[in-house]
Amino acid sequence: KPRVAVLISGRGSNMMSLIEAAAAPDFPAEIAVVISNRPDAHGLARAQAANIPTRIIDHKAFADRAGFDAALDAALAEEQVDLVCLAGFMRLLTAGFTQKWSGRMINIHPALLPSFKGLHTHERALAEGVKIHGCTVHFVTAEMDVGPIIMQAAVPVLEADTPDTLGARVLEQEHVIYPAALRLVSDGRARLAGNRVAVDEFETIPPALV
Ligand code: GAR
Repeated sequence: KPRVAVLISGRGSNMMSLIEAAAAPDFPAEIAVVISNRPDAHGLARAQAANIPTRIIDHKAFADRAGFDAALDAALAEEQVDLVCLAGFMRLLTAGFTQKWSGRMINIHPALLPSFKGLHTHERALAEGVKIHGCTVHFVTAEMDVGPIIMQAAVPVLEADTPDTLGARVLEQEHVIYPAALRLVSDGRARLAGNRVAVDEFETIPPALV
């Protein structure tokens, strides 16, 4: 089974959805380590409680992004990691690092890409008045939130929504599609092929619109 590193910066609810899914004996990947760039990330305690090894690589200890990414890459090598999942990991990665992990690193983003790249996606979706919002799992490339899309889920935007209520509806779907997408990538059914995702066979996608 491929060994997966989950990279976090905070709460770690998506990390937990991956850990819980991977606990099933038939899951085609193993969560080998959780790495946080923030020593105070709440997700660290949750990973430890689930008996997953954790590491802290504090970005403040490095002069630049290249230094941080080199330490991250060294840790991934030590842990014999095959695949990387960014799960609320709030650091930009250098082009060299994304190139090295090309096709082996995925991210979850709380919007229907290519709409609403970057931060504050729920506030911006409400401000734009979109009627459908959602989340995306994609391969990570050098450009932030741009890599080829593996899976998406959509949710309605309701009249009474606040960023918090909309975000909670989206988060519920993040927890569905991230494990599903990791499963596809881990068993090789979804692969990066140039600037597209190649899928071997038609895959049924979880709740397209809920
Ligand atoms: C999630 O909503 C994730 O999609 C988002 O941060 C949240 C992390 O929550 N990621 C980004 O915005 C990436 N730029 P979690 O720590 O509970 O998984």
